Amino acid sequence: PAHRPLFGKRVLVTAGPTHEPIDPVRYIANRSSGRQGFAIAQAAAELGADVTLIAGPVHLTTPPGVIRIDVESAREMLAEVEKALPADVAIMVAAVADWRAADEAEQKIKKDGKAVPPLELAENPDILAMLGKHKQRPALLIGFAAETEKVVEHAQAKLAKKGCDWIVANDVSGDVMGGANNAVHIVTKDGVESLADAPKDVIARKLMEKVANAVGQD
Ligand code: C5P
Repeated sequence: PAHRPLFGKRVLVTAGPTHEPIDPVRYIANRSSGRQGFAIAQAAAELGADVTLIAGPVHLTTPPGVIRIDVESAREMLAEVEKALPADVAIMVAAVADWRAADEAEQKIKKDGKAVPPLELAENPDILAMLGKHKQRPALLIGFAAETEKVVEHAQAKLAKKGCDWIVANDVSGDVMGGANNAVHIVTKDGVESLADAPKDVIARKLMEKVANAVGQD
């Protein structure tokens, strides 16, 4: 029989970047490809979970058996995450933009040959932190942390700040963002488990086996 320790569990995954509109033709974005989040959604489905994947703009196909909801902006992602509750496990892999344009211009901003237009920013909602204090908080709430230095130290601080159970920290000083491989440190209140550099689908399977050990059967 197949190894399906997450059978009957609802797993919510966010993935990809967000796009924050400036005007109808321009946006603020980041280098996230969505590959790690999609691999995690796939690994969760393979272990038998009912998976909802809320994806920012990416060029990836939907893993088999996964329900995918596409969004553009952080605020849209937040709304879809709340709609997808309740969930047993939530894994927030998306590289949500920290800031959006304070005002979205209704028409394309024109170059008038004079002043350069100012770009005022506003803070986006923190979806992970919102889930951390939500009345339907998932029993296991996992965040990601992209850091370029003091990776584990920063992850430990983030656990408390976001109200989540695990932080999966990766060092993005190299070419992790958009790349095929990843190396991560899974930081929990009990310690740190490091997964050596490997393809993102291998990292995803190891992470989801750990999730299954925490919340699953078998
Ligand atoms: O604070 P920082 O951006 O480093 O936190 C990263 C973690 O928080 C990731 O799990 C990411 O998906 C989540 N996050 C979020 N909403 C934001 C910013 C980050 O869910 N606005």
